Amino acid sequence: MAARILITEPIVDSVIENLQKDYTVDVGRRGQFNSVDALCEVIDRYDALMPMLSNPITAEVIEAGENLRIIANHAVGYNNIDIEAAKNANIHVANTPGVLTEACADLTWALLLSVARHLGPAEDFLRDDKFDGWDPLGFLGTELYGQTLGILGMGRIGTAVARRAKGFGLNIIYHNRTEVDAETEQRLNATYVPSPKKLAARSDILSLHCPLTDETHHLVDAEFIEQMPGHAILINTARGPVIDEQALAEALHEKRLAGAGLDVFEDEPKVHPSLLDAPNCVLTPHIGSATLQTRRAIGQKAADAIKGILNDRDPSTIPNLLTA
Ligand code: DGY
Repeated sequence: MAARILITEPIVDSVIENLQKDYTVDVGRRGQFNSVDALCEVIDRYDALMPMLSNPITAEVIEAGENLRIIANHAVGYNNIDIEAAKNANIHVANTPGVLTEACADLTWALLLSVARHLGPAEDFLRDDKFDGWDPLGFLGTELYGQTLGILGMGRIGTAVARRAKGFGLNIIYHNRTEVDAETEQRLNATYVPSPKKLAARSDILSLHCPLTDETHHLVDAEFIEQMPGHAILINTARGPVIDEQALAEALHEKRLAGAGLDVFEDEPKVHPSLLDAPNCVLTPHIGSATLQTRRAIGQKAADAIKGILNDRDPSTIPNLLTA
């Protein structure tokens, strides 16, 4: 009997079709598996699971998945999975690093440019038929050239953001758990700053690219925001709970920050109501990796890990296993 795979939501067709050649594949409806109960109800029927980051793969789900051999997250971030519980149950876990780096870095820049130059309100103004000719004082934004970009988390995506920043003529400073190698620092012309708060104090623009962990949860809180200069812009394309949204919304409303661009939220899909009407705050619905090329590559990477395990390949030869 062919092994059974559950893909919790519709993903790019070609990835599903590819898996269907060798396995029985069930694809859930959008949002169907966003709860532990919904997952627990069906999970014992499957040998492999490809969840989305909105699916809570808790210890309870893992325990219920008595036939599971691999959980291949359809994402690079894996804070939705209890990795320890999976390890204890001898279930492999995979993620999809690398393939979404450029797409995410592009979106970071889209948000930054949009905040700095008020693109949303300017477009609304034009569509509302208010454009009455060139205005010497209309929609004055801030020039990026020569400003200092602080990057919190200099992994793949942070590095790709820094690469783009060189072209825009920004000075780059960063903080990372470990300092990156001297060659990379030199290539990016990036200077290490020893603490997140010091980075905040020195950045005109602060862009978050760290994973969500116990240490980074609410790292950007009221006290952190106080360190930031009043003219600073904050960008988050990493994970929502890194920011205390209440504190950010207050700072934006009180004009203690110049603006924010957010693609991720503390309690997705909910967005803190005070962010919705905060001044100069650009909000997008977690679309960092949303290009066709990237979503296809994410699906394929997760599928490759599933195939490797189901075909009994030596786990140490399967890329992107977090449990190998
Ligand atoms: C990820 O992969 O972790 C992104 O947040 C969504 O693609």
